[in-house]
Amino acid sequence: MNFSYVNPTKIQFGQGQISSIKELIPQDQKVLVMYGGGSIKKNGVYQQVSDALSGHQWIEFSGVEPNPTAEHLDKAVAVCKAESIEFIIAVGGGSVIDGAKYIAAAACYDGDGWDILVGKHAVDKALPIGAILTLPATGSESNSGAVITKASTRDKLSFLNPLVQPKFAVMDPDVMKTLPERQLINGLVDAWVHVCEQYLTTAAGNMVQDGYAETLLKNLLTLGRDYENHDNDQWRANLMWTANQALNGLIGAGAAHDWATHMIGHELTALYHVDHARSLAIVQPSLLRNQSVNKQQKIKQMGINVFGFTDNENLVDQTIDAMEAFYKSLGVSTQLTEMEHKGTKAEAIDVIIKQLEKHGMVALGESKAITLDVSRAILEDAVA
Ligand code: NZQ
Ligand code: ZN
Repeated sequence: MNFSYVNPTKIQFGQGQISSIKELIPQDQKVLVMYGGGSIKKNGVYQQVSDALSGHQWIEFSGVEPNPTAEHLDKAVAVCKAESIEFIIAVGGGSVIDGAKYIAAAACYDGDGWDILVGKHAVDKALPIGAILTLPATGSESNSGAVITKASTRDKLSFLNPLVQPKFAVMDPDVMKTLPERQLINGLVDAWVHVCEQYLTTAAGNMVQDGYAETLLKNLLTLGRDYENHDNDQWRANLMWTANQALNGLIGAGAAHDWATHMIGHELTALYHVDHARSLAIVQPSLLRNQSVNKQQKIKQMGINVFGFTDNENLVDQTIDAMEAFYKSLGVSTQLTEMEHKGTKAEAIDVIIKQLEKHGMVALGESKAITLDVSRAILEDAVA
């Protein structure tokens, strides 16, 4: 268990915290405020941000799409360069915050920003970012990862760099009040899978990481089971903080990571526009069944410590079934149907496998056991 760990993002958690950004951004820096399709204009968040920035010089950039595209973000890169922007505020969910990370790095680079995603440019400089989270799900507000799509080629790729990690993240659970239920549930599922990607791997006896991961999973299970009471301050605050902790580096420190569900899921989103979280629910149960021998020790531990099952010879299957039932209880499908109008199941699987190959996703998972043939077998179950 060797690791180096720091999480430098300052967290401003709680109701009314948006106003605190005025003290967190240097007074003399020119700010770009970024947001998505306009939900922040309807729920008062935009007004709170503009009130807080009344003493700052700022301009705005809007229209960042869910699963943000380099094509759109490149317009903001040009704005940053032309206007000599010094600080970026991302107001939104994972898409806007990831978009800010791309812009922050690409604005300090002379070449094509996409070079960062394909590994042609190693980020060595980035503008500072602050995040105002409006959708708890990805953990992007206090981690160093970003996932960007090139719409023209349907490539959805990620990059990680500490230079793009937000300097601060405002988490006011009140902003969640206007979230469509679909997005609220997406947040729960995404956070759940983030924990699994770092926990359902090699059993290494990491008591702190395992124990905390189990706590986060139990929180999410409780919030999901209590979903009918979600219009409640405590429910919102607990989801927001749990989703953040699921992917802020802590439970993953010194642990083996999987991320195969995410990598396959990203292809489903890029090809068929499946919401990120829903792509994970489609892939994960089939992937776990396929990898149940490799992962059996941790799946059993999860069955006992998270679901409260007693040890028995069917514990692995019982635990995976319980996870699948949890998704279904939230109305989340565990099979891909979005490809139906675009061809047959066999054609869909071929296209997904081709994209995985193109993106170098040929040996996924903590033990690199998920080759293209294994991905194909997983997709045979995951595609309806
Ligand atoms: O664009 P607006 O109008 O704001 O609407 C958004 C969007 O349509 C809406 N929304 C957000 N906050 C709202 C709201 N609507 C009403 N009230 C609010 N308070 O929700 C929709 C979805 O937003 P989006 O940001 O796309 O969702 P999410 O946070 O799930 O982010 C998904 C993206 O993050 C990436 C995913 O791949 C995907 O591109 N991920 C990023 C990660 C990271 N950086 O660490 C890890 C994740 O695994 C994930 O891959
Ligand atoms: Zn995710």
